[in-house]
Amino acid sequence: MPDFIAVARPSDLSDPGSLLVEVEESLIVLIHAGGQFYALDDVCTHDGGPLSNGEVDVAGCTIACPRHGAKFDLATGAAKTMPATKPTLAHEVKVEEGQIWVRLSGQD
Ligand code: FES
Repeated sequence: MPDFIAVARPSDLSDPGSLLVEVEESLIVLIHAGGQFYALDDVCTHDGGPLSNGEVDVAGCTIACPRHGAKFDLATGAAKTMPATKPTLAHEVKVEEGQIWVRLSGQD
């Protein structure tokens, strides 16, 4: 299992807000919503749109793909609305020692 990697400071993101970061050559969108931090692959599973440019919905706990509007759950990456039907990958996040740390999923 990969280690947690420090990617940003909490003050780097407004709430709501997002930030594109690179973690071990993967593009990850960090999201701050309702006081919580989330990390998803920066890839919409409909047609590869960049979720990092999407609108964050705090109440719905989603981010919307800017290309055709599919919404993804911030915590699980599940596709919540069409035209996406498959989840994007969600990653573990923690805040410690003044840093946001991400551990990539989908790797051994
Ligand atoms: S590429 Fe994201 S909804 Fe189409």
